[in-house]
Amino acid sequence: MIETFRTPRLSAERLQADHLDELSRMHRDPVVMATLGGLRDDGETRSFLRRNREHRHRHGYGLWVFRDERDGRFVGRGGLRHVPVGGADEVEMAYALLAEFWGRGLATEMARAILKVAFEHLGIDQVVGFTLETNQASRRVLEKAGLIFERALIHADDPHVLYRIVAGAG
Ligand SMILES: CC(C)(COP(=O)(O)OP(=O)(O)OC[C@H]1O[C@@H](n2cnc3c(N)ncnc32)[C@H](O)[C@@H]1OP(=O)(O)O)[C@@H](O)C(=O)NCCC(=O)NCCS
Repeated sequence: MIETFRTPRLSAERLQADHLDELSRMHRDPVVMATLGGLRDDGETRSFLRRNREHRHRHGYGLWVFRDERDGRFVGRGGLRHVPVGGADEVEMAYALLAEFWGRGLATEMARAILKVAFEHLGIDQVVGFTLETNQASRRVLEKAGLIFERALIHADDPHVLYRIVAGAG
């Protein structure tokens, strides 16, 4: 497992139990959670942390917390998850930022760094991203990080779009 890494403006650290308060703050924000399946209360965030820990033990990767490297403020979370998508086992790249940090290219920075970790350090051969069809900002992040639109699909009962990047592309 990669414990820490950096992007030009952020530092990343492995998501763990003592991030509960910071993560809960994000999970209680309706603006952020509108495209992530809705609000999570503190109990659900504890379960989220437990599932991420179990996932990390099983697969050797998971989510990281990202901080502003100038002052250490919590910016968001992002990382890699092993998921079944449209009938296949995939490694998904995920990211979410507190709304005050949107619109500065930070999600793109996170996405590029996560892909570098996946391909150069974890030996993963391809990564997908999927998002609600209507989530234009996330679609744009996937495109800027080099993922290519593959197809539309229904996920969690809603229309989504699936993007993919293969190691060595771009
Ligand atoms: C989606 C999200 C991660 C984007 O974060 P961000 O730091 O603002 O993203 P970036 O600044 O790196 O890039 C956003 C891009 O989307 C574009 N964009 C933003 N809103 C848009 C909209 N409504 N329509 C079209 N493009 C849009 C921006 O202009 C930018 O593209 P550009 O650089 O070509 O101008 C952030 O909004 C978020 O955390 N949302 C809630 C969680 C979420 O939806 N996560 C993804 C789940 S799959």
